[in-house]
Amino acid sequence: MTTRVWTVRLESTSYTIALEPGGRWLDLVAWGPHGIEDGPSPLANSGGVPGLTDADAAPVEYSPRGLRPFSGADLIIGPVGGPHESWWAFEGQDEGEGLRLAFRDEVTGLRAVLCYAAVPGTDVLRRWVEITNGGPDVLEIERLGSAGFCVPTGTSGARLTYLTGQWCQEFQRRELVLPAGRLSLDSRFGIPGLTYVPWLAVQDAGVPDGPAWGVSLAWSGSWQIDADIEPSGITRIRAGRLPFPGPLRLEPGGRMSTPEVVLASSVDGIGGLAKAWHDYDRVLAGDRRGPRKVLYNSWEATSWAVNGDRQLELARLAAEVGAELFVVDDGWFTGRDDDTGGLGDWEPAPEKFAGGFGAFVDQVRSLGLDFGLWIEPESVSPKSRLFAEHPDWVYHLEGRPSTLIRNQLLLDVGREDVFEFLRDMLSRMLKDYPISYLKWDINRPATERGRPGWPAADLDAEHVRNYHRLLDHVRTEFPHVTLEACGGGGARTDLATVARADVLWPSDNTAPLDRLTIQEGFLLAHAPHLLSSWVTDAPGMFDPRPRSLKFRFVTAMAGVLGIGADLSTWSAERRLEAAEYVALYKEIRDVIQHGEVDQLAGPREPTCAVQYAWKDTVVVLAWSTGVLDGTPHVAGRPTRVHLRGLDAAASYVDRSGARYSGAHLTHAGLPLAWSAEHDADVVILGR
Ligand code: GLA
Repeated sequence: MTTRVWTVRLESTSYTIALEPGGRWLDLVAWGPHGIEDGPSPLANSGGVPGLTDADAAPVEYSPRGLRPFSGADLIIGPVGGPHESWWAFEGQDEGEGLRLAFRDEVTGLRAVLCYAAVPGTDVLRRWVEITNGGPDVLEIERLGSAGFCVPTGTSGARLTYLTGQWCQEFQRRELVLPAGRLSLDSRFGIPGLTYVPWLAVQDAGVPDGPAWGVSLAWSGSWQIDADIEPSGITRIRAGRLPFPGPLRLEPGGRMSTPEVVLASSVDGIGGLAKAWHDYDRVLAGDRRGPRKVLYNSWEATSWAVNGDRQLELARLAAEVGAELFVVDDGWFTGRDDDTGGLGDWEPAPEKFAGGFGAFVDQVRSLGLDFGLWIEPESVSPKSRLFAEHPDWVYHLEGRPSTLIRNQLLLDVGREDVFEFLRDMLSRMLKDYPISYLKWDINRPATERGRPGWPAADLDAEHVRNYHRLLDHVRTEFPHVTLEACGGGGARTDLATVARADVLWPSDNTAPLDRLTIQEGFLLAHAPHLLSSWVTDAPGMFDPRPRSLKFRFVTAMAGVLGIGADLSTWSAERRLEAAEYVALYKEIRDVIQHGEVDQLAGPREPTCAVQYAWKDTVVVLAWSTGVLDGTPHVAGRPTRVHLRGLDAAASYVDRSGARYSGAHLTHAGLPLAWSAEHDADVVILGR
C-alpha cells in the first residue's frame, strides 16, 4: 500500500498525518509552522522495537487497546464480558466536516472515524472521534478518548505546564520537567473541577524557551489528560472525557461521538500558545464579544442578607462610580437565608423586596443599570419545596444515604423532566423580569450517581448535554442575556462552557496579590474578555497583604472589570477615586478585552506586568508586588518592563506626553517608578 498523507493547514502552522503502510493506524508526521512537514519526520521511530509492537513505539494518533497493547490506549472497547480489545484497519475517507478517516474492526463490527477540522483564522485544530457499533453484540467502553497525539520532545523529556489548585486558589501555574514517566490530570467531579483545568502545554525540556504544543478540552463533565514521556523521549498525550463511573454501552447499530479536544502549537512558547487559545475563545464568542459592561455584584457586601432597600443603596452608589450592570448574587429567592435552604425554589423572596421584586428591578434599571441575578439551577436544598415534591429528581443510589456538600444535593439534570423544569423556570424568570445577566453557578460535584435504569444510562454525558442545552436555550431565546459561568469559583472553565457563556468567574479569591497569580494562570488558557474580576474590600479572604485601591482596580481591569466591595463603607473621596478608574477602564476596555496579550512579567517577580495591544494602542498594566528600588533615599533606577511585538522604528507616546521608540520599549523597557503610595499603574501608549 502506498503511504497516504494528509496535511491540515492552520493559520500559521500545519498538522500532517500519514497512514501506516499496513493501514492499521495514523502516524503524526509533523506539527508546527508551515513547511515543517518538508523533511524527515521529527517523530518517526527509526530504531528497533525489542519487546514491543511497532504501534507501541510509533507516533500513533489514536489507537484502541489491542492494536497498541502497552503504551496506552485512547479507546478501550469490546463485547460485554469479552476482551475489551480491538484491532482495526483503514477503511477510507468519509465525506463531512473536516478530514474524516475511518477504521473498521472486522471482528467486532466497530467503526471509528477520526475527525480533524481546522478553526479558520487560528492555529487551533479541533479533533473528535465518532464510533459506530456495526456488529451484533453490545460493546462496552472503558475509555473513550477524543484524541491522542505525540509531541516531538527529545531525550531530556518534556516540560509540562498545567493549571491546578483548589477553592480560592484556582489556576495556579505549575511547571514540571519530566524526563520519563506519566503526568495524569483528571476530574471525577462530573464537572471540570477546581483541581485541574482541562488544559496542558508541552515543551521540549532540552530547548529552553522553545516551541509549545497544547491541548484543551471542550467537555463540561469528568475528564482525563495523560502525558507519557516514553523512553525515547517522545511525549504521548491522550485526552478526552472520563466515562465515570463507567463502563459505557454501545448497542448494535448505536453511534457515539466524543467531545472535542482542541490542539494548538506555537513557536513562541507558552505565551504564543496562549494567543492561539485567545484566538479560539474569540471565535467561540462570535458576535457576542462585547465590550463587556462594568459590573457591580453585591455578594461580598451583603451575602445572603439580601434586602431590596440595601441593594438599592448599593445600586445607587455603583451607578455613581460608573458601573453599568447590577447583579444580585445568592440570597434573593425564597428560603435562602443561608446555605441550608432555597435552592430549587426560584421565586423572589417576597419579604426581602417590600414593594415587589418587579418594582425593585425597575428601580435598579431606572438608575441606568442593567440588572442581573445569580442562579444555581442544577442544585437543590433538601428543605426546598422542589425536593419535597420531587425527591427522585436528585442523583441517588437505592439504599444509600445521599452526601450533602454545602448542604445541598444535585439534580439529575440528564432526566428529561428535570431539563424541562429548568428550561421552563429559566424562561419564566427571563420573561417576567427584565434580566440581562445571569451568573450560573454550581457549588457541588456529583456523588451517588445513580438513577433507576442505571448503568445503561451515561449519566455524566446526559447531565452535560442538558446543561449545554439549557445554556443554548438561554442564548437563543434570550440573546440579550449575558451569561457568566461559575463553579464555586473556577470549576467550570472548559471550552464547551466557553462556547456558551460570555464570561467566566475564575475564583472567589479577589485578594489582590493572590488574584494576580490566579489571573496569570487564567490568561494562559483563556482570553481577557472572559476574565471576570472584582475590586473588593481589603484585606482579602486568604491574602491579608494590603494593597492600594489603585492596585486593586488595575488588577480587576486586566479582564472584565467588576466591583464587589461594600460601597456604602467607602468615603466620598474613595468613591471619586474609584469613578476615575472606572472611567479610565471604559476608555481602554476595547484594548484590554480584544487585544493581543503578552504577560511580560509574572506576579512572583517584583514588578508584574501584562501588555495588551489592539489597533494603534498598547496598554500596559503593571503592579509592584515586591521590594521597592530604594529611590529617592538611595541611588536607584526605575524598574523596566520589556514590551513585545512593537514596531522598533515607530514612536509611542503615553498620556503624560513621554515619547519612546518601539526599540526603546522593547530593549531598554518601559520605566516604572514605584513608591509606597504608588504600587500599580496603567500606561496607555498611542502609536
Ligand atoms: C459561589 C460563588 C460565589 C458566590 C457564592 C454564592 O461560591 O463562587 O461567587 O456566588 O457561590 O453562594
